[in-house]
Amino acid sequence: MSQALHPMLNIAIKAARAAGAIINRASLDLDLLKVNTKSPNDFVTEVDQAAEQAIIEVLLTAYPGHGILAEESGRAHGAKDSDYTWIIDPLDGTTNFIHGFPVYAVSIALAFRGQVQQAVVYDPTRNDMFFASKGRGAFLNDKRLRVSKRIRMAESLVGTGFPFRKGDNFKRYVQMFEAVMQNCAGLRRPGAAALDLCYVAAGYYDGFFETGLNPWDIAAGSLLITEAGGLIGNFTGEADYLYQREVVAGNPKIYGQLVQILSPYTRVIKSGHEAHHADVPAVTPEAALAATLAQPEAPKKKLPVRIRRADIGGKDDAAF
Ligand code: IPD
Ligand code: CA
Ligand code: CA
Repeated sequence: MSQALHPMLNIAIKAARAAGAIINRASLDLDLLKVNTKSPNDFVTEVDQAAEQAIIEVLLTAYPGHGILAEESGRAHGAKDSDYTWIIDPLDGTTNFIHGFPVYAVSIALAFRGQVQQAVVYDPTRNDMFFASKGRGAFLNDKRLRVSKRIRMAESLVGTGFPFRKGDNFKRYVQMFEAVMQNCAGLRRPGAAALDLCYVAAGYYDGFFETGLNPWDIAAGSLLITEAGGLIGNFTGEADYLYQREVVAGNPKIYGQLVQILSPYTRVIKSGHEAHHADVPAVTPEAALAATLAQPEAPKKKLPVRIRRADIGGKDDAAF
């Protein structure tokens, strides 16, 4: 790219590289990894925490007045009343990382008054830097990204994520899976949502959908998609998705077709309207945010356990 990068994007890239170095170093000796269980099938390692610390340090050294919303430490760091919030997932795809499955990434977004303006998703296994600034396009390293041109769902490759936490609504997901599967050319679940969204921006996937994602999984990837000419929204096709725990994305044509398939499964409640499915509990943005912010507290209550890779294989197999 010929234009100079936005200074805030430059800082985000620096922070992502610092986290990537920590992740790559740790990937050389996974047997020594300390893993905590946040909830069944939901893991956090010391690498997630070290990477997050490194990112926050780089960001707050450059912008001490900015706010932070990070997966592992919530809003503990940074200013509380800033218009700027950095939304951070230090290691997206932790389960893959623990297993040595090379699909994981660092995700950093900067929102100004709730709108994502800068975005970086860094895949340290390939040294691939996905980045975007609002209004300036999306890039993978030095290559401009564009969403795919495919217009027929029947020819489309669609990414997704499976529910895997206790209490997730598996039945609802299986119905969606069946509905999409029967209409497209193939479904993929590599296991890192931030990268999944970049793959839509890059045109590898024609569309993507998942439930249960948090803002730090989605924020950076969402700007990559819109800057690459794609669309992202909730299952009814509206822009209210960051805290709604349901997201659909794609090139404009496939996005529209996915929304048609997925809208009956929405849990978003619009004021004055009933949820489409009375049997599915609805989530308000406030409740979704509260749940999101409550999650980072969980790991602190558990003592770290030192495990070997062989010890966790069987447990995780069930989720994939
Ligand atoms: C997870 C990954 C995965 C998605 C999960 C996320 P984490 O993030 O993005 O693809 O299906 O819902 O929690 O926990 O590895 O950062
Ligand atoms: Ca994540
Ligand atoms: Ca994570």
